[in-house]
Amino acid sequence: MARVTAGVFTSHVPAIGAAIDQGRTTQPYWAPLFEGYEPSRQWARENPADVILLVYNDHATVFTLDVVPTFAIGTAARFEPADEGWGARPVPVVHGHPELASHIVQSVIGEDFDLTVVNRMAVDHGLTVPLSLMFGQPDAWPCPVIPVAVNVLQYPVPSGRRCLALGQAIGRAIASFPADLRVQVWGTGGMSHQLQGPRAGLINREFDQAFLDRITVDPAAAAAIDHVEYVREAGSEAIELIMWLIARGAMPARPSGQSPRCVHRFYHVPASNTAVGHLILMP
Ligand code: DHB
Ligand code: FE
Repeated sequence: MARVTAGVFTSHVPAIGAAIDQGRTTQPYWAPLFEGYEPSRQWARENPADVILLVYNDHATVFTLDVVPTFAIGTAARFEPADEGWGARPVPVVHGHPELASHIVQSVIGEDFDLTVVNRMAVDHGLTVPLSLMFGQPDAWPCPVIPVAVNVLQYPVPSGRRCLALGQAIGRAIASFPADLRVQVWGTGGMSHQLQGPRAGLINREFDQAFLDRITVDPAAAAAIDHVEYVREAGSEAIELIMWLIARGAMPARPSGQSPRCVHRFYHVPASNTAVGHLILMP
């Protein structure tokens, strides 16, 4: 059977992708950030996945206000890097896993969750920047990736509780897939940031550190944070953190009720307008 072998959580700032693509990772502004991901790249080499289920948000690149699916899953065999206005990032095409993705669709919709099935789409920085952070600049990504896109742009957005419950349903779907696959679940976005208005540039280190604690040891408490609290405490774009809850929910509960093992934790301010947070958890 397939099994979830790790949860990876990380911010997905577009400027990080530009720094990698333009060879600026050792510049003084960026070096401390990329040093924080060196243990992660080492861990990724030592702990390969057969498939990554990557929860991210599209930034009005594919899902403009014309179509706003709350939860969407990519069932295609390949996903091209999107052109977000400066040309597509020079990164490998993302290969999907149509069989596992279709199984998740069947199982999760069977449990009364409404997933939008997407058979063709491009993927933006929300998906490709985390791959670059964890894998560097390979000629091909090391394994297939199933994109799960969440609406965090247009209100109403889903609650943290709903995201955790969807993650748990995805976890059950993965555990019932009859092939021996090591599946990693990744949640991207956040942490505190606000990109517009009088509070642009807002960062809340205390909120972020408490969120890193809670998502590790008490995901139900992290799921209880409501939208107003995200916006008030950590800025309007901190709502991206609800995507971490889907990945966390998909991790298997330990029989003893213990928390997963935290293999790596990193926090850095600033990267563009964002506080960067990163966790690697293993069941
Ligand atoms: C920035 C951060 C994001 O999460 C994003 O999607 C776009 C921009 C930023 O800090 O610049
Ligand atoms: Fe974003």
